[in-house]
Formats: sequence, structure tokens, C-alpha cells
Amino acid sequence: MPNEGSYEAALKRSREVESDIAAGKVEKYTMLTGDRPTGRLHLGHYFGTIKERVRLQDLGVRTNIIIADYQVITDRDTTEHIRDNVYNMVMDYLACGIDPAKTMIFTHSAVPSENQLMLPFLSLVTEAELQRNPTVKAEMEASGHSLTGLLLTYPVHQACDILFCKGNIVPVGRDQLPHIEVTSKIARRFNERYGKVFPDVTGLLTSTPLIPGLDGRKMSKSYGNAISISMTADETARLIKKSKTDSERFITFDPDNRPGVSALLTTAGICTGRDPREIAEEIGNGGSGQLKKYVTQAVNDYFEPIRERRHQYEDDLDYVRDVLHDGNAKANDIARQTLDEVREAMGMVY
Ligand code: TRP
Repeated sequence: MPNEGSYEAALKRSREVESDIAAGKVEKYTMLTGDRPTGRLHLGHYFGTIKERVRLQDLGVRTNIIIADYQVITDRDTTEHIRDNVYNMVMDYLACGIDPAKTMIFTHSAVPSENQLMLPFLSLVTEAELQRNPTVKAEMEASGHSLTGLLLTYPVHQACDILFCKGNIVPVGRDQLPHIEVTSKIARRFNERYGKVFPDVTGLLTSTPLIPGLDGRKMSKSYGNAISISMTADETARLIKKSKTDSERFITFDPDNRPGVSALLTTAGICTGRDPREIAEEIGNGGSGQLKKYVTQAVNDYFEPIRERRHQYEDDLDYVRDVLHDGNAKANDIARQTLDEVREAMGMVY
């Protein structure tokens, strides 16, 4: 976790950006954020960041989404299913309301000039700084693999993702803040050494409460506690049905002592816009059976139109491919321009 000071500072900057955007000053901002294509997007992604991206897009902020395919091999030794995962990710985005006419969607591997920024950027960080990154350490431990050179340096690669399009706001969860700090540091150091090319970068912390997995832990596919956006209503019902609650019949909202029950209440609360405590009171003696029914209905109602839209894209993969090709082409134009500015600033124009 980043230290409290940097969290507080990020929160303050986030609020400033928010009030600018609320006041219609959107031209100042370029958003870049992304996901690694390791599986389907789930409710944690949706409420934690996708919804926010759609909001910023619709307010007129320049919005860019990277599908971080090279990040997949930071801690695993296969790219099996990667094409399928990338296509499904695009479908999830489109179904959730990302509009490719407004938002550029692209992949690492298709944008060479973006990746080339990695060389000058690597010269701006020390090994000690890289070794210190708490998120990298946590990811290495979770993967069970030893630390690869790519995992150690991927926060620098992430700086390339953000800075090639001069992104200055990055909606992230708190765990990603150390990476944003690396990006700001690189931008600052580059500008000091070679002249101003890159913007100040702010991690935009979302105000949505974190949606837990069905067992109360962090929602993650690997824990089997995640409801995917692309699940059917039946699959959703089955997953919720087998989630673990506890032996107490009376339903109360108590995340510390009743993680399973409370995770269900939080999920229902986020999907219905209601206070989870109020839902708990309403169900009371109805027990976990009734609670599960309520949550299933809430999730399926919320995601019905999104899932419906998703089916249309599933039947039109040519369109999905065009969206990606178009985004990649745009990203290449922007990356080439930025790399030219970098060459210029570094005196490498021959
Ligand atoms: N590291 C992010 C994740 O694991 C994905 C990502 C890649 C990203 N590049 C980015 C996020 C740039 C924000 C900005 O989810």
C-alpha cells in the first residue's frame, strides 16, 4: 500500500480534477487506463472503473483504454487464449457503454512507438526504486513465479502507456497508486533533463465503495468469487446460490464478522442504489435464501441490458475486430508523434 501521505495527496488531487470536470473544464484532461486481458471482466471492474470510464467519456474527456497484453507475460509463461481474451474484453467494454467513436481502445503489442519509450524511461529510474514497489512485490508473490525482468519494470511500461498519449488522469484503485507515482516521477525527470514533453499525471481515485467478491475477499476470478459481466442470468444465480454465508438466520450488515452475508448485501446495494443496511432490515428473518434471491434479481436486472448488447457483439466479431484495428491505428499515429517529440527533445534527430 502507498503511504498515507501519498494517498491523501492523491485524494486531494482527485477532488480538484473532479471539480474541474464538473465545471465543464474537460479539455484539460486526457484519461488513460486499462486492463490486462487474462479473463472476463467482472463486477469489481465494472463498478470500480468501467462505469467511471463511461462517465468521463460521456462528459467529453479524451478517453483511452489500453488492453495490456504484454502485461500478461509479466508473471506467467503462456499467452494461451490471449486472442480470445482480448476480443472478449473489447466486447465487455462495448456492452458496458464504451463508445469507440469517443474512446480509443488498443493493445500494447500493436503500438511499437509506445513500447520504444521504454528505453529512455528506463534510464530515469533506479533499480532500488523498482525493487521498492509494493504492488510489484505483491503481484510476484501472488503469481508464485520468480520476479521476471518484465514484472520488475512493468510500472515503467505503464508509464509508457500513460505518457505516449499525454494522459494526465488515470482512474485507478488504491493498489495502483505506486505505479502512478512511478509515472509522475518519470514524466518529471524527463522534462527536467530534456525539456517539457510530458504532463503532470494524477491517479483518479473513484468514490464508489469497493465491491467485494461473494466471500467478502477481493473480487478475483482466481478466488471463484467473481460475477462476470458476461455470465448468463442462470450462471449468476448458480454462483450466488453456492456462495458461503453463515449459520445465523437473521440478516445484518456486518462486514467484519459476517463477510459472506455482507458481501451479498453490498452487491445488492450497489446494483439497486440502496443502502445495504436497509436491505438487511427488510430481509431480516428471511435468511440467506431470501437474501440470495434478492441479490440475484438485483444483479440480473442491472446487467440485463448490458448482457443483451453483448450478445449483439458476439454475433458480429468483424465489427469487434474493426474497433480494435481502428484503435490500434490511432494509437500508432499518436505514439509516433510523441516519439518524434522525444527524439527532438533528446537531440536525436538525424
Ligand atoms: N496494471 C493495470 C492492471 O493490472 C493495467 C494497466 C496497464 C494500466 N497499463 C495501464 C492501468 C495504464 C492504468 C494505466 O490492472
